[in-house]
Amino acid sequence: MTTRKAKTWAGLSAAELRDRWNREDVHLYGAVDSTNDLARELADGGAPAGTVVLAREQKGGRGRAGRSWHSPAGGLYLSMVFRPGRVENPELLPLLAGLGIVRELERRFEGLRPGLKWPNDLMAEDRKVGGILSEAVWGDEGIRHLVIGAGVNVAPLKSGAPRGLRSRASSLEAVLERDVPLEEVADAVIAGLEAFVPRAPERLDAALLSLADRYDWLRDRRVGVTPLDGGDSVAGTCVGIAPDGALLFRPDRGALRRLTRVSVEAES
Ligand code: BTN
Repeated sequence: MTTRKAKTWAGLSAAELRDRWNREDVHLYGAVDSTNDLARELADGGAPAGTVVLAREQKGGRGRAGRSWHSPAGGLYLSMVFRPGRVENPELLPLLAGLGIVRELERRFEGLRPGLKWPNDLMAEDRKVGGILSEAVWGDEGIRHLVIGAGVNVAPLKSGAPRGLRSRASSLEAVLERDVPLEEVADAVIAGLEAFVPRAPERLDAALLSLADRYDWLRDRRVGVTPLDGGDSVAGTCVGIAPDGALLFRPDRGALRRLTRVSVEAES
């Protein structure tokens, strides 16, 4: 699709947003396919760390594991460029992004009790209100650039939203029962993304582990886990998050496992 820059986003100009977020590079669009794709193009062209791309809606929004991301106007679609260089444990990056964002959402939106469904689904009142997609491009010196995109359902889902989504997803406005300005959600997402990702540790230290523990939405839940590269679902219970960022899972039969590349479905 033809992608045109927009003069404003949420009623604010790029200049106002550059001031608000204290950075040079803020790119605003109306309808796009995916902000992650645009951020990646900008990063390929040399855009600095901290570059932010925002769109009013996405026509080809992408989610984890090849899924699509329903992206009508009224939601937040934000991608940010990082240049972390050598990272000891890249598997930890999505989790660090999620932890930063849930912490900021809780700090900034009174009454919100967010959870993080490993590795980085944003939950509220047991429904998904947002997701994060991390995509790295590798070079000889480690990660050449990393784009992290966050989608947050801010306005309530409309009746036209896919049926399966309406039963599992919610929005910040529906949960908080009040208007939620998009730019305040963007403030939280940007602060959350920049909290831990730029200086990613190899392992979660005591403070990060306690944060992971606090927001761990899967803890003690019955789930089915499926390998991302295919295979049967295995039933069991999630028991926590390991210092290296792996999901700790106790299958109904067999010993405790450390899982990394899986998708997790909670039993209802
Ligand atoms: C998931 O939960 O599966 C991840 C969803 C990530 C959606 C965001 S919206 C902004 C950015 N652009 C995309 O195409 N995807 C991410």
